[in-house]
Amino acid sequence: MGKFYLTTPIYYINDKPHIGHAYTTIVADALARWHRMRGEDVLFLTGTDENSEKNVEAAKTKGIDDVEAYLDEMSAAWQMTWDTLGLSNDDFIRTTEERHRKGVEKFWKVVCHAGDIYEGDYEGLYCQGCEAFLVMSDLVDDMCAIHKKPPKKLKERNYFFKAAKYRDRIVAHIEAHPEFIQPVRRRNEVLQYLKDGFSDISISRQWKSREHSGGVSFGIPVPGDKEQAIYVWFDALLNYLTAVGYGTNERRFKQFWPADLHIVGKDILKFHAALWPAMLLSAGLELPQKIFAHGFFTVDGTKMSKSLGNVTNPLDVVGKYGNDTLRYFVMREIPFGEDGDFGVAKLESRYSADLQHGLGNVCRRILTLADQIGASQMQSAQRNAYPETAMLSDLTARTWQRYVAGMDEQAPHEAVAALWEYLSLLDATLERTKPWEQTRPVADRAGVLCTLLESLRHVAWMAWPLLPNTAEAIFRSLGMWTKESTRTLAEAKKWSNLNVKSISISRGAPLFPPLTKQIM
Ligand code: MSP
Repeated sequence: MGKFYLTTPIYYINDKPHIGHAYTTIVADALARWHRMRGEDVLFLTGTDENSEKNVEAAKTKGIDDVEAYLDEMSAAWQMTWDTLGLSNDDFIRTTEERHRKGVEKFWKVVCHAGDIYEGDYEGLYCQGCEAFLVMSDLVDDMCAIHKKPPKKLKERNYFFKAAKYRDRIVAHIEAHPEFIQPVRRRNEVLQYLKDGFSDISISRQWKSREHSGGVSFGIPVPGDKEQAIYVWFDALLNYLTAVGYGTNERRFKQFWPADLHIVGKDILKFHAALWPAMLLSAGLELPQKIFAHGFFTVDGTKMSKSLGNVTNPLDVVGKYGNDTLRYFVMREIPFGEDGDFGVAKLESRYSADLQHGLGNVCRRILTLADQIGASQMQSAQRNAYPETAMLSDLTARTWQRYVAGMDEQAPHEAVAALWEYLSLLDATLERTKPWEQTRPVADRAGVLCTLLESLRHVAWMAWPLLPNTAEAIFRSLGMWTKESTRTLAEAKKWSNLNVKSISISRGAPLFPPLTKQIM
């Protein structure tokens, strides 16, 4: 059984999470659950990026002098949000933690020892929103194209990292490993960037002082130089190493590194696909297996972002519609990798059409009919004697194939689409076989319903990583709820694994009640 280490970006905590951050983390959660179901030893990491001047300024704006207290409070609010959303991260790293600082210091020394750090003067345009120096192509009307704010002019003495030295090796790696950067379109952008614009990068900032007001006031000091702090991106990327024990727990580090999947937004792909590999190569470490860049959540076509003030709080959405509704919406509505617009009207129409009427009704109809026919009839029915069995078992196998490919290739939208097509074919089977017609022999009707109950078991399994609460409710209705740890793919995919002899069917509460009488 292999391991699977997947990460989200670590988030700045200058505000509470918005639905764009929830998007990244929810999809990562679904993939983590999927790999657990595959039987892998999963480590799903998320966390908070705390050594940023953005966070310090946010504290100041709120009139809080104690930056550390502010960070503690905000970081807890982020973790609480993920808990409320039912996310299953195995670890949550804060870059103010000791385990992180120790690893960062070690890394700096290793890279320094490799001869890849040198001193120099830096003069350039710095965007606080991006926490990065910009080049002319990053500007629109003299403002940062993402944050729509003018960058600051900065001139400082800094330490530089010899990133450009690794350009050719990174290009060669990307070319030899088509899966390294996904989707393909992004891979080409990164290659272009490496070929055109990748140069050595400043990796420290001067501390703020009376003489220098442009520097930083918070961060990890550069080992051996009291006047400089480590640049926040250089520090932040290292969370992926320090969380698995780099510099503190070699055994754990060997167990989990390299990461199998970094999920990032397209805005921060360059840091992950160019700077990060250069850092790892310099330190003599393996590169991650895959970096997947997803698109933006937009509001009327503009990126949802704290600095633009057009945000939706995920807690408001799940408070009203439930966790699985938000999960379904983000995975159904937006092909992973593309941009997608968020809107309550769209979410509500998905809810009614796909969840309440699609999934909810099919489950309810099958369970109600099975319940009416009664357990003893169901138990004596020989389901293999019915023509629907062959058709549905074949359909189930084909649906699993599409589903598995979607989940393995970070295309949960494909997996969701496969599942919903399956549901509509179950509905069509009901319509065709009409097991409610009293004129048909009860054994026939019970046979069809046994087959459909077995199909529902597959629905529950496929829903498990995507919509865990819904999956649990279906398993419970089938009388089959067991501990999460026992769920494995081999067991899930087997046709006819439903033990009719011991099944206890219950209708349960509606999975997705009508919105007006909403009870989720
Ligand atoms: N702290 C850095 C990341 C360091 S990782 C070593 C950072 N933080 S962030 O909070 O500004 O954004 C992190 C990520 O949040 C983005 O890359 C993206 O994954 C997600 N998103 C932020 N806004 C988003 C949308 N509007 N839509 C989709 N994802 C969004 O950058």
